[in-house]
Amino acid sequence: MKICMIGAGYVGLVSAACFSDFGWTVTCVDKDQARLAEMKAGRSPIYEPGLEALMDRNIKAGRLLFTDDLGPAVAEADVVFLAVGTPMRRGDGYADLSYVFTAVEEAAPHLRGFTVVTTKSTVPVGTSREIERRLKAKRPDADVAVCSNPEFLREGSAIQDFTHPDRVLVGADDVRAREVMGRLYKPLALRGSPVMFVERESAELAKYAANAFLALKISFINEIADLCENLGADVQEVASAIGKDRRIGDKFLHPGPGYGGSCFPKDVSALIRTAREAKSPVSIIEQVERVNHERKLAMAIRIVEAAGGSVRNKTIAVLGLTFKPNTDDMRDAPSLVIVPMLQERGATVRACDPQGRRHAEPLLPGVVWCESANEAAQGADVLVIVTEWNEFRALDLEDLKGRMAGKTIVDLRNVFDPEIARDLGLTYSGIGRGHRGQGTSQVAAATSNDAQSALSAK
Ligand code: NAD
Ligand code: UGA
Repeated sequence: MKICMIGAGYVGLVSAACFSDFGWTVTCVDKDQARLAEMKAGRSPIYEPGLEALMDRNIKAGRLLFTDDLGPAVAEADVVFLAVGTPMRRGDGYADLSYVFTAVEEAAPHLRGFTVVTTKSTVPVGTSREIERRLKAKRPDADVAVCSNPEFLREGSAIQDFTHPDRVLVGADDVRAREVMGRLYKPLALRGSPVMFVERESAELAKYAANAFLALKISFINEIADLCENLGADVQEVASAIGKDRRIGDKFLHPGPGYGGSCFPKDVSALIRTAREAKSPVSIIEQVERVNHERKLAMAIRIVEAAGGSVRNKTIAVLGLTFKPNTDDMRDAPSLVIVPMLQERGATVRACDPQGRRHAEPLLPGVVWCESANEAAQGADVLVIVTEWNEFRALDLEDLKGRMAGKTIVDLRNVFDPEIARDLGLTYSGIGRGHRGQGTSQVAAATSNDAQSALSAK
């Protein structure tokens, strides 16, 4: 089977590498010449664990190819995937579909024989029909069926997610398209992954509903964490207890500085706009968006309070900048709100991130860049964990304390054991650790007040 993957970013490249590993021949088409050069040389332009090895194996086998020449790749393909970006549109918060429609216009002249064109990009309800309309207008002679095949992988564990999905979702009206998509995913079906065929609109909406529900879980546990601080409960224990209930589940109940990334913020925003337009507002998701926005501001204020009420002329060590570990992706990372707020209040920020520096550096001017956590901690008054990279979990707190000028740790990901930190004479502020997070209830109270004034000042 021959596949053309238009857009070789976080989703396109991972999907292409995995499909080629199933034995299909995949040609990735991308316009970004820098990305292309790296991929052609067998290197991954993004940091995703295991991806380069997978690429290497399939490039050598002649099944994974890269080009900027769309024509031949589309002409030969049984399935053309659209995996280009659908960022938040400036000004109104809708999904920007310009990359999708440009790719459709570019692909149309080259379609040959029966071809399935399918979105892998996250697109609003109705987009598949609109793509079909545009293809038919441009190529009335083309034998084409348009599907929706949303992707549910997470960055950082993308290969495992792609190859062991909870489900594969295909929105398809056309019988031949269902057969082609069924054959494409047969390797996964044979391993027991359910392949679900649904209406195109259902597939499109299910993707947004899934991301919105996960975002809701995160905002929920973040608010419960704040409540824990004020009532003396420990959110880890509360999350673990409720997570045992299979109706709730224990995933996505880790409190933190608010969700970020290339998808939750933009998809939540797009769903809100779509729902309002459909005169069926999702008010609960509107509140999730608000809570998450305020959370990032509140985290910066929490750090200020932990530093004694002011960070002016203080040095803050920030460990982790990416929106989550195991990725170099900085899109909508909480650090992009927290670090500038600290700098505006007069702090010097010393930061490190195992993979994020290349993308973070242009976004965070004025930061002192460090190669390691130990280097960042040098002379710091306060040390903050923003992203829970594994290598931070094993840090020697006593050694860190020796390097710091102050002794305050703000652990926005609950990486450290509060008792161990306290026994070492550190002032520890975790998230929702109740009596365990030393002094956190005061910080939480101050945080919410100050965050409110930060918000109303905007
Ligand atoms: P990305 O920005 O990393 O990659 C998009 C790529 O498309 C870029 O390399 C760009 O150069 C290329 N491109 C754009 N227009 C093109 C064109 N006309 N021809 C050829 N190449 C073109 O984006 P991403 O993070 O991979 O996301 C892609 C889509 O997948 C989005 O809709 C996103 O919501 C969805 N998605 C992403 C993830 C994720 O983990 N990042 C997970 C599930 C779904
Ligand atoms: C998310 C979804 O999990 C994927 O299923 C989906 O395919 C993808 O979006 C997408 O549509 O692009 P991703 O953004 O890569 O994947 O990463 P997540 O692991 O979901 O994390 C998103 C954000 O939520 C991160 O900032 C993370 O730190 C935060 N988070 C996650 C929490 O704060 N607590 C949690 O318990 C889980």
